[in-house]
Amino acid sequence: MPVITFRTPGGDEEHIDAPAGISVMKAAVAHGVPGIVAECGGQAMCATCHVYVQDEPELPEVSEEEDEMLDCTIAPRTDQSRLSCQLEVTPELDGVVVEVPGGGA
Ligand code: FES
Repeated sequence: MPVITFRTPGGDEEHIDAPAGISVMKAAVAHGVPGIVAECGGQAMCATCHVYVQDEPELPEVSEEEDEMLDCTIAPRTDQSRLSCQLEVTPELDGVVVEVPGGGA
């Protein structure tokens, strides 16, 4: 099972076994990772699941919908910004580090 490391706003790291096929957001919420609010439940409509993906793994392209929401994040958008609800857990994500922005975004 892929292991995803979430770096929380407080600086802690949580290593989570995430089943392939669910979203990175769902894996985070299931384990109570602080800072991943996911208000819209994964519909790409709230941007409260914003994360910074480290290490540049192969990721799917940002959709138009995700791109628009990434302009609405509370924390600054960077090249590493993604909506975790739009990222499916795949074997390629094993070992990835996902940083959760501070400020509830
Ligand atoms: Fe709302 Fe990802 S959970 S945009």
